[in-house]
Amino acid sequence: MFYHPKDGHGLPHNPFNAIVTPRPIGWISTRGSDGQENLAPYSFFNAVAYVPPQVMFASTSAKPDRDGTKDSVANIRDTGVFCVNMVEYAMRDAMNLTSGPWPRDVDEFTKAGITRAECDTIACSRVANAPANLECRLTQILQLPGEANFAVFGEVIGVHLRDDCIIDGIFDVTTFQPLTRLGYRDYSHVRDVFSLKRPGES
Ligand SMILES: Cc1cc2nc3c(=O)[nH]c(=O)nc-3n(C[C@H](O)[C@H](O)[C@H](O)COP(=O)(O)O)c2cc1C
Repeated sequence: MFYHPKDGHGLPHNPFNAIVTPRPIGWISTRGSDGQENLAPYSFFNAVAYVPPQVMFASTSAKPDRDGTKDSVANIRDTGVFCVNMVEYAMRDAMNLTSGPWPRDVDEFTKAGITRAECDTIACSRVANAPANLECRLTQILQLPGEANFAVFGEVIGVHLRDDCIIDGIFDVTTFQPLTRLGYRDYSHVRDVFSLKRPGES
């Protein structure tokens, strides 16, 4: 089949987010200048540069109690910082609970029973036992075409790696099995790993 997105796809569900898969999940923690804590998952998320290390996530649609966006973007606009917490398979239910359409004064760390720790370089909480946390300083927020679509870019200025995830000097994903987002209500977790040498590598 072929379709022009502007004309609709004719399927029971939009296939778009099943096409670009698997996607990593950035579990974004923020703290507003009023002290309100927030935690929510974003799978329009990725790393985008090595030096300096940079990440991005995209927020789509708005919450009724926020000015044209969601809590995460609103807090980041407010404070200029955020933390990305990587999601392991064991945390899938807690992660999912934090994605609810909770009012802005709901602290999702508390709601989902997630232990928090203070970040080292920014005024923000992080998920204490996540395999990795990336402490980020906002570089830019881009408004994308469409209603309430924003891409948030940040420079990573502090990195936490959980000690048991480092095996022989390698951050070994098989120790925690990253959760990945597929389409619809589907997820997967990384268990099988293989290596490929690039052309010219010995
Ligand atoms: C696995 C997963 C991935 C998600 N990815 C996104 C995303 O990339 N962009 C987005 O706007 N919402 C995404 N959502 C929905 C948000 O998590 C949800 O709207 C949440 O309430 C936003 O919280 P906030 O207002 O506290 O930022 C995702 C939800 C789940 C469960």
